[in-house]
Amino acid sequence: MSIINKAAAIGGGVIGAGWVARLLLNGIDVSIFDPDPEASRKVSEVMKGARRAYKQMVPGGLPKEGKLTFAKTIAEAVADADFIQESVPERLDLKHRVLAEIDTHAPANAIVGSSTSGIKPTDMQVAMKKHPERLVVGHPFNPVYLLPLVEIVGGEQTFPEAIEVAREIYASIGMKPVVIRKEIEAFVGDRLLEAAWREALWLIKDGICTVEELDDIMRYGFGLRWAQMGMFQVYRVAGGEAGMRHFMAQFGPCLKWPWTKLMDVPEFNDELVDLIATQSDDQAHGLSIRELEKIRDDNLVAIMDALSKQNKGKGWGAGALHKDYTRQLAKLAAKKPTASKAAEKAKAAKPVKKAEKPKKKKKG
Ligand SMILES: NC(=O)c1ccc[n+]([C@@H]2O[C@H](COP(=O)([O-])OP(=O)(O)OC[C@H]3O[C@@H](n4cnc5c(N)ncnc54)[C@H](O)[C@@H]3O)[C@@H](O)[C@H]2O)c1
Repeated sequence: MSIINKAAAIGGGVIGAGWVARLLLNGIDVSIFDPDPEASRKVSEVMKGARRAYKQMVPGGLPKEGKLTFAKTIAEAVADADFIQESVPERLDLKHRVLAEIDTHAPANAIVGSSTSGIKPTDMQVAMKKHPERLVVGHPFNPVYLLPLVEIVGGEQTFPEAIEVAREIYASIGMKPVVIRKEIEAFVGDRLLEAAWREALWLIKDGICTVEELDDIMRYGFGLRWAQMGMFQVYRVAGGEAGMRHFMAQFGPCLKWPWTKLMDVPEFNDELVDLIATQSDDQAHGLSIRELEKIRDDNLVAIMDALSKQNKGKGWGAGALHKDYTRQLAKLAAKKPTASKAAEKAKAAKPVKKAEKPKKKKKG
């Protein structure tokens, strides 16, 4: 059950709309601000997809959806929110402007999460003059309403209590929060993805494989392993009975061979973009983005559902969480909490208060 009463979403594009969907489907009211005149249509498209996926996850009926309100300004959107998620485009100047406005108008104890893919929270919270201590990065993965992972990162001014409350908030809406121990650009997920993406660009540019062949190499091979065990546990098993030590002894020295392009980045020119975009068009076989989204969502639900039955029925990895989450949604569907109960929980969640700096004693 969520510990927040009212959320605000600032930015309603691919990621912002995904947050809106997850929050609404958990019965939480959301106020959104996005200056794009098409924002309402885009959010409702994402909502349609999310509802479709959740109906498969909770066939007995979904919880009553939260209410969505389109605000005319950031100030209006955040005015009475307990939790605010910022998902505007990845530009530091824009994040500064938006976060400063959120900070000015949001209740002092509201937690502010930023969806940034790679900007350090320390570099963003300098724009928050009132309560920079409540900013965390809450980096999700697309589609936000289905993929449970959220990387939480605090900046130099973030209070530990804010990280704790953010962790509780994200967990309460069915997510798997992982708190990143040290603040670095792009955190952990995107560091890994960027390394793979850089290498993939070289492989396509050099004509070693097409985008479709590269994707097949992932999805028919190690992608299946990663989805259920990750990298290190898979390698532990790959070491045979001697496990990780043997694996490292065998493959560690390979790192000295020039297998990968390492830090070199291919020139991102029109030729490379055309090459990749054309091959990607061929790979899609005429399926639209919305059709591909449906296929992706159905597959993700099916994978998590299958994993939820593993490990003697207890569920494994994302499947164990999926099992708990779908139960939680079914319970919420059976019994919608009254407004006063939700408000009580929201009150209990008030985060930063505990950690507010002590007021200076008046002299004399
Ligand atoms: N796309 C991804 O896969 C992904 C994954 C994780 C995190 N992110 C991060 O999420 C954030 C948003 O990315 P996205 O892919 O949703 O981008 P997007 O371009 O799809 O959406 C951004 C939205 O922000 C709106 N916007 C612009 N200025 C605004 C303002 N002043 N106030 C409110 N809204 C404003 C735009 O109209 C647009 O709808 C970025 O920081 C990005 O790095 C993206």
